Amino acid sequence: MPITYNATKRLWILETQNTGYAFGISGDGHIKHTYWGARITRTKDYPDLSEHQKNPWWDWNDEIPVRGEGHHTEECLKVRYKDQVRDVVLTCQNHKISGDYLVVTLVDEAYKLEVDLHYRVYPENDIMEKRVVIRNLSSNEIKIDSSFSGSFYLPENNDYRLTSLTGMWGHETRIQRETVHEGKRVFESRVGRTSHFMNPFFAVDERATEEHGNVWYGLLAWSGNWKMVIHKRIYETVQIVLGVNNWDFRYSLMPGEIFETPGVFFGFSQSGFGTMSRNLHRFQQEQLLPGTDAQKHRKVLYNSWEATNFGVNEENQKALADKAADIGAEIFVVDDGWFGERNNDTAGLGDWFVNRDKFPDGLKPLIEYVNRKGMDFGLWFEPEMVNKNSRLYEQHPEWVLQFPNRPKTEIRNQLILNLAKEEVREFVYETLDRFLTELNIKFIKWDMNRPILESGWGGEKHQEKMWYQYVMNLYAIWRELKRKHPGVILESCAGGGGRVDIGIMRYADQFWTSDNTDPFDRQFIQEGFSLCYAPKTMMSWVTDWGGKNGYPLTYRFHSAMMGSLGIGADLSEYSPDELEEARGCISRYKAIRDTIQNGRLYRLMSPGKTAFTANEFVAPDHNEVVVFCLKNPAPLSLFSVLRLKLRGLDEDGVYQDTETGKDFSGSYLMNRGIDLDFHQDWEIKVNRTRHFDSKIVVYKKIN
Ligand code: DGJ
Repeated sequence: MPITYNATKRLWILETQNTGYAFGISGDGHIKHTYWGARITRTKDYPDLSEHQKNPWWDWNDEIPVRGEGHHTEECLKVRYKDQVRDVVLTCQNHKISGDYLVVTLVDEAYKLEVDLHYRVYPENDIMEKRVVIRNLSSNEIKIDSSFSGSFYLPENNDYRLTSLTGMWGHETRIQRETVHEGKRVFESRVGRTSHFMNPFFAVDERATEEHGNVWYGLLAWSGNWKMVIHKRIYETVQIVLGVNNWDFRYSLMPGEIFETPGVFFGFSQSGFGTMSRNLHRFQQEQLLPGTDAQKHRKVLYNSWEATNFGVNEENQKALADKAADIGAEIFVVDDGWFGERNNDTAGLGDWFVNRDKFPDGLKPLIEYVNRKGMDFGLWFEPEMVNKNSRLYEQHPEWVLQFPNRPKTEIRNQLILNLAKEEVREFVYETLDRFLTELNIKFIKWDMNRPILESGWGGEKHQEKMWYQYVMNLYAIWRELKRKHPGVILESCAGGGGRVDIGIMRYADQFWTSDNTDPFDRQFIQEGFSLCYAPKTMMSWVTDWGGKNGYPLTYRFHSAMMGSLGIGADLSEYSPDELEEARGCISRYKAIRDTIQNGRLYRLMSPGKTAFTANEFVAPDHNEVVVFCLKNPAPLSLFSVLRLKLRGLDEDGVYQDTETGKDFSGSYLMNRGIDLDFHQDWEIKVNRTRHFDSKIVVYKKIN
C-alpha cells in the first residue's frame, strides 16, 4: 500500500519503491513530520511523534508551519482575518485516503478557514507530491499574505550540502554547490516567470556523488514568481520551504473561494545524483509530459531564425525548406518576423496577422510546400507581449501591465499584456486557436522575451493577485490548446531558458534550453538541465554559434544530439560536403533517438572536471546503449586515449559494438571499461578546432 494510516500510532506513512515519508498527529491536533528517507521495510518501525517529542528540534517539524501557534520557523501560511488577527491556529479534522492520494484536512475553527494538505505518491517513479488548498468557509474576506506549497525537514546532520541551478541569459542551468550553513538562504524569482537566474529546485546531500550517497530533492511546479528558503539553526535540523513567492503577493480570499498552491514533487535517492535525475526524468516521461505523445519521439526540427532573422519571406523560407528536408529535418519552423509590421524588434508584436509583403498569399502556400517536402510546419508566437508600435496597443493600451503616473519600462521595445485579465486571456487563446484551426500547424514555439517589472493592474482592487492569476491563466490557455489540438507540439521559450519548470511541463512538450547554442558552452548548460529535466524536453540546436569553423561540424551535432535535436544554422551557407555530413549525423540521430529521448541517462564525465564530457543512455528495454564522449580543450587534452566505464548494464548481458562487431559482457564494460581513441597529433597545437573531438559508440544487447 503506498499510503497507510496507522491508527494506533496516529501516523500517516507514504511509500514508494525506495522512499518513505511519515507524519503524525499530536495530542492537540497538529500535524508533525517524523521521517523522510529510505523506505523502512517494516511499516510499524516508522518513527511516530512519541520518538520525536524527545528531540529539541520538535518545533521545526510542522507539516504546515503557520504564522501563529507560537512558532518562529519559516511559515507556509500567513493570513489576515477581518479583525486584524494574524495568527493562524490549525487543528486536524479528518483525512481521506484513496489509492495513491491522501488529503488531510485542518481547520482554523474560530475563523472558518479550512486547509487541505494534498499528497500523491507515484510508487514506480519514486516520487511524491504535496500541495495545499485553502478554503474560506466564513462570511468574511480573508487576506492571504503567504501560502507556500510545503515545508520539508531533513534528518539531523550538521554537514549538508545544497545543490541548486543558477544562471543568466545565455548561461542557464549552471550547477552550484555549497555547504548548508546556519542562517537562511533564499532563492527566488521576482520577474513573473521561472527565470534564467535560478530554477525552483533543491537537492541536499550528504557528500553524495553521481552514483553514491543520500540526496533529498524537490522541484516546484510553478512558472511565475517563486521562493525557496533553506533554514538552519545550530544543532537543529534543516527546513526547506518553497512555493509561490510572497514578495508583492496578497490574495484576497472571498467567502466560499479557494486558493490552490502549486505542487512540489520530491524524492530521495540513496545512490547519488544519477538516480535522482533518472527518477525525475522517468517521472516526467511517464506522468507529466502532455498526453499520449509522452512516450513518442521528438522530431528533428529546423528553425530559420538564425538564417533569415526578421527578413523572412515565402521565397527564402522555401529555399531553406528545400535544404532542411534534404538533410532530414522533420519539422520546419518559421520564427519571429512573419506577422504585422515586424521588420525588426521595434514593431508588430501583438498584431497576429500575416505580413502580406512577406507572404503575399498568407502562410498556406509555404505550409503546403513544407508538407509536400514531408515536413510538419511550426510557427513562433510571443503572445504575452505588445510593441507600442502596433495596432493592438493602439486599440488596447489598457491591457498593458502598468502603474499610473509611473514609467512603463520597455525591454526589447516591448510591454507586457496583463494575462491575468480575462479579456487578455481570451484574446491570446483565440489568436492561437484560430491559427491552429485554420492552418496545418503542428508546432508552436511560445516565446516570452522580457521580465515583468511594473505590475500594476489599472482599476483592479486586489492588484497583487496578478502574479498568481497571470500564471494560472497562462496554464489555462496551454491546457485548452493541448486539449483542442492534442497533436500539436508546444515549446516553452522565454528569451532562452527563462521558463523551464515542471509546472509548464504538464502542457509543454519541450523547452528552448538557451539562446546559447555554442556546442562547448552547451555541455555545461545541458549537464545542469539534465540534473532535473528529461533530455527529451531539452531542445538542442546545431547552429553557427562560435563560428562556423570554430568547431568540427560532427562535434557540433554530437553536442546537440544529447537532447532533442534541432538545426538552426544558415544552411544556404553550407557546402555540399557539409550538408552531406549533416545528413549523416541526422540519420544517425534518428536511429538512436528513442534511446536518447526515452532511455535512462548516466552522466559518466562532467565537462567541468576534465577535458571530457561523457553521457551514456540506456534504452528503456535495456537492449541498446548509446555513449557520447566529447573531448574539449584542457591542459591534459593531449592525452589521446580515454578509458570509460559504463553504468547501468546487465552484468551478464552481452553487448555488441554496432560499428566494430566486437562483443563484451556487461560486467566488462562496467568494470574494465572501453577505450576511446581521440586525435593525437601536434597539429592540435596550431589548429584550435582539432582540440574538439567527439565519438558516439552504440551497443546492442545480443544476449
Ligand atoms: C528569443 C528566442 O530565444 C530566440 O530563439 C528567437 O525565437 C527570438 N526570441 C526571436 O525574437
